[in-house]
Amino acid sequence: MNGDREFEVALDAARMAGEVLRRHFAEGTTVWGKESHNLVSAADLEAERLIAETIRDAFPLHSILGEEEQAGDLTAEHLWVVDPLDGTNNFAHGLPQCAVSIAYCHNQQTHCGVIYDPFRDELYTARKGGQAYKNDQPISVGRQKQLNEALVSVGFYYDRGKMMEATLDAIRDLFYEKIHGIRRFGAAALDLCGVACGQYGAFFEYQLSPWDFAAGRLIVEAAGGQVTTARGTALPLQPTSILATNGMLHAAMLAIIERHHP
Ligand code: IPD
Ligand code: CA
Ligand code: CA
Repeated sequence: MNGDREFEVALDAARMAGEVLRRHFAEGTTVWGKESHNLVSAADLEAERLIAETIRDAFPLHSILGEEEQAGDLTAEHLWVVDPLDGTNNFAHGLPQCAVSIAYCHNQQTHCGVIYDPFRDELYTARKGGQAYKNDQPISVGRQKQLNEALVSVGFYYDRGKMMEATLDAIRDLFYEKIHGIRRFGAAALDLCGVACGQYGAFFEYQLSPWDFAAGRLIVEAAGGQVTTARGTALPLQPTSILATNGMLHAAMLAIIERHHP
C-alpha cells in the first residue's frame, strides 16, 4: 500500500522516542520554561532529534515540522508533523500521562498517524482510508447519543486570558447539560485517542497546534468520529481550535463551544 514505508518509519521513530521519554522520566530530566507556563525539557529535545534523524535517514527530502526545533514547511508536499512529547507539564511534574505523536502528511492530508504512550505501552495508529487501532486491536468511537451520557475531555491553551475564560464558560454550560464529567488530563494527543476508543464522547480545545492533532485527528476519523474546528469548519493543518466527537454528539457540542469561541 502506498505510504507503508512512511508508516513503518513513524512506528519505529515513535517507539524509539518513547524509550527516550521513559529514560528521562526515570532518571529525572532538566525542565525549563519556554514562556511562563509553557515548559520544555531535555526529554522533548532528545526525543525530537531522534525522530528527525530517523525520518531523515529514510526520507532525506521530506520536510519535518516539530514542536521544538524542526521548522518544516506546512505547505511541503511530503511533511512530517511531530510532537516528541505531548504532555510536557505532566512529565515535568512526574505524571506519566504523555505521548509521542507523529503524522506523515502528503499535500496537507494526513496519510498515517501514530501516537505512542510509552508509560502504558499503548500504540494508537491509523492510515488514511483504514481502521484505527490501539496496539493490534481495532478501536471505535463511543455510542453516546446525548451529552448527558458522555464524559468530555478538554484542553487549555497556555493563555491565561480570554481563551481560558471561554473554556471555563463552555465547561459550565456543559455541566448544565448534565455531562457525566469533564476531564483535563493535559495531553491533547491522548485526549484524541480517548475519543477514538470511546472513553470520551468529545474533546475540545480553543487553540491547538498542528503537532498536537495531526496524528490524532486521523485516528479519531478512522475510528468513526468527526473532527472540525470549534466553529464546525474543516480542520486546517494550521494552529486552530478543535472539536473531536463520536459524530453523534457533534452538533450538540458545537452549539455550546461555538457560542463561547474567543
Ligand atoms: C499541550 C498539551 C495540553 C494542551 C496544550 C498543548 P505540550 O502540549 O497537549 O493538553 O492543552 O494546548 O500545548 O506543550 O505538552 O506538548
Ligand atoms: Ca503538544
Ligand atoms: Ca510537546
